[in-house]
Amino acid sequence: MSERYVNSEKLLERAVKAIPLGSQTFSKSVTQFPHGVSPYFAQNAKGAELWDVDGNHYVDFINGLLSVSIGYADNEVNRAVKEQIDKGVTFSLSHELEVEVAEKLIKLVPCAEMVRFGKNGTDSTSAAIRLARAYTKKDMVLVCGYHGWQDWYIGSTTRNLGVPEVTQSLTKVFKYNDVDSFDELVKQFKGQIAAVIMEPMNIEYPKQGFLEHIREVTAEEGIVLVFDETITGCRFSKGGAQELFDVTPDLATFGKGIGNGFPLSAVMGKQKIMQLMEDIFYSGTFAGETSSLAAASVVLDKVMNADVCGHLERLGTELKDQLNKLIARYNLADVVDCVGHPSWSFIVFKGADNITPFEMKTLYMQEMFKSGILTLGTHNLSFSHNAVHIAQLLKSYEQFFELLKECIAKQTVENVLDCEVLVPLFKVR
Ligand SMILES: Cc1ncc(COP(=O)(O)O)c(C=O)c1O
Repeated sequence: MSERYVNSEKLLERAVKAIPLGSQTFSKSVTQFPHGVSPYFAQNAKGAELWDVDGNHYVDFINGLLSVSIGYADNEVNRAVKEQIDKGVTFSLSHELEVEVAEKLIKLVPCAEMVRFGKNGTDSTSAAIRLARAYTKKDMVLVCGYHGWQDWYIGSTTRNLGVPEVTQSLTKVFKYNDVDSFDELVKQFKGQIAAVIMEPMNIEYPKQGFLEHIREVTAEEGIVLVFDETITGCRFSKGGAQELFDVTPDLATFGKGIGNGFPLSAVMGKQKIMQLMEDIFYSGTFAGETSSLAAASVVLDKVMNADVCGHLERLGTELKDQLNKLIARYNLADVVDCVGHPSWSFIVFKGADNITPFEMKTLYMQEMFKSGILTLGTHNLSFSHNAVHIAQLLKSYEQFFELLKECIAKQTVENVLDCEVLVPLFKVR
């Protein structure tokens, strides 16, 4: 048992007996955190900082898998939630907050004329696909990125166990920034495609004309275009990536950060399509649950009025610039790269002689956790991160790059890695 993570590891031993995988979320599980050098359980968090069950302190660059957009335990969000809890949470009738938050999203998001809520991103992406199928009376779906755990999507990935083949056959994957891979599928399944659903951006910026091409072709072919903005919504810009790149889809899904960690997602879009919600079946006991809506109402006010996205953009740009300078200073440009939007940037490991990218990533996580930085290889910023947090991150990178240089010179990580190397299990981006 490792000294630094004693309580985490004890809890994990109990957890794997009671809970398959020991966690509710794949990205929080042992599959993602190298055993022996990682924390597994959080105790509490505030702003951009988190404490694990062993009392170790971290600046958190995971941020509840990007659900914490404003900051952990934000005073104003929590005040609104507490006030709402005192009045009741889930009622026998609909509640005004549903209307209020829907109206705020309609104001913010270019494609949004009507809105329906859900709890997880998967609720909203799955509702969008059912709507698109009902609207077009077609079945095929083209996907690009990650869209949640439901059959229609996950059947197209390597983790398709339990998904009927007939369902798998209805979803096809195209490559981001690869117009040909998209065009070929549109040609192959001409007249059969209900929806194209895609993350408008994750790791790479869209090549010039890429999103516009998809918009044009889907409009011509009568295909419903869905932007899955579960992450990018209210992050890349107030109205999401669709506003940043000036390409308006027919439908969009938001999730994660709109509740600052309270569970809320939304599907929104053109009225003529959204109206069909009245004919399909999309309904949930907790979809209008008011503590999350109270949180979202405050989050959306902040996004609208407090320059949240500007803060993420400025701080993230500084982070990326400084990190790229460090990479250049350590002569590591052939080995690592920092890419993505400033508010959600990625460190990419390319490997070196006799050292695989996954060995590098595992060593990186071990060292980052040890130095008090929580990351899975991305920098997920929240409104609570500040220049001091970024400076701490960069200092940790500097220490890690020193170590990495030594490993590269010796062509091995063996002497410094205190755990098994992570295994690549599931890649969708
Ligand atoms: C782009 C995107 N879409 C959909 C989802 C699914 O959201 P949830 O895990 O809340 O169901 C995620 C979650 O990571 C996501 O990143």
